[in-house]
Amino acid sequence: MTTSKVPPVRVARAVERFRHVLDRLHQRSAPPAAVMMDKILGAWVAQGITVAADLKVADALADGPLPIGELARRVGADPDALSRLMRALIGEGVFTQRGDGRYALNALGTTLRTDAPMSVAGLARMVGHPAHREHWSELLDAIRTGEATMPKLRGMPGFEYLAENPELGEIFNDAMTNLSEAAVVPLTAAYDFSPYGTIVDVGGGHGRFLAAILAATPSARGVLYDLPQVVEGAPELLRRHGVADRVEIVGGSFFDDVPSGGNAYVAKNVIHDWPDDQALTILRNIRAAVNPGVHLLLAEFVIPENPRQFIGNWTDLEMLMATAARERTEAEYRKLFEQAGFRLSRVVPTVAPISLVAGEAV
Ligand SMILES: C[S@@+](CC[C@H](N)C(=O)[O-])C[C@H]1O[C@@H](n2cnc3c(N)ncnc32)[C@H](O)[C@@H]1O
Repeated sequence: MTTSKVPPVRVARAVERFRHVLDRLHQRSAPPAAVMMDKILGAWVAQGITVAADLKVADALADGPLPIGELARRVGADPDALSRLMRALIGEGVFTQRGDGRYALNALGTTLRTDAPMSVAGLARMVGHPAHREHWSELLDAIRTGEATMPKLRGMPGFEYLAENPELGEIFNDAMTNLSEAAVVPLTAAYDFSPYGTIVDVGGGHGRFLAAILAATPSARGVLYDLPQVVEGAPELLRRHGVADRVEIVGGSFFDDVPSGGNAYVAKNVIHDWPDDQALTILRNIRAAVNPGVHLLLAEFVIPENPRQFIGNWTDLEMLMATAARERTEAEYRKLFEQAGFRLSRVVPTVAPISLVAGEAV
């Protein structure tokens, strides 16, 4: 069963192409240096958005417009400085100002509410966090050496660093939740999971993707597999989404083994975390758990063959700095599948930048 809460993929792609053409036209209509300046100063815009998210300006405006004095009091800011930030953000289309001078939410401002259905407040807080900015300041070194820079900078692997810095870890998890919320509906709308009786989510985190699949597929059961300390946090999420009674939770490492017994294995944003040798170990462990014909579905940002604006181009650099890992093209996934004993059958696009790389065990 598929859901119909999103527009057809071909409509989304047509809109994307139209926006691409408009963007290129806009670029040609202005002096190249001005276009470049816009892109460079985008870093300042992003930091302004991060500060609004840190201060929870959108939450403060959730009950209605406020004058600057009251807004500043509620978020703990200097009124004059906050009014200047608001002016800059309103210029970018984030928030709005009424005729009487009061500030209010608009569509973009609403996305910074922490309780918005598709909130990006966590993502804004992560990308502008001083630690994350420090990671990106190492990009030059990563490009020169081709090596992961985050472990060198922090003296430990990224996930350990997050575990040792709980405040940053929480911001990171919120950002991942924001990204997942934006992806799960498009993914479940794009693919029919109803043929599968049991679906195993490998590296499934707290089970947000699995919960969405099971909500769209009432006949299916799920197995959620992730590190023991991670799946500890899963029951609450699975209960909240009304699927807890259909999920078996298993803690373990996909570098050791993967639960058997599934008719389909999904892994969302897992393989992109690892360089080829470790990615292959995970895929081979899945292959060892299944019979020929069992389906494998990787939800990933698949790099397009021809360069275009695409979030995966940037998460690819984030992966390089974090673990010397990468986003991959369809051809690169095809090769990994073959080496691990799977055959890639197709890449299923969604209305979001994420795709399902689908194949089966041979
Ligand atoms: C980028 S997150 C993706 C989480 C989830 N699939 C999603 O899309 O929201 C990568 C996941 O891999 C898990 N992971 C990392 N190392 C693992 C291991 N050795 N065994 C099992 N899971 C692991 C992490 O705990 C994390 O949940």
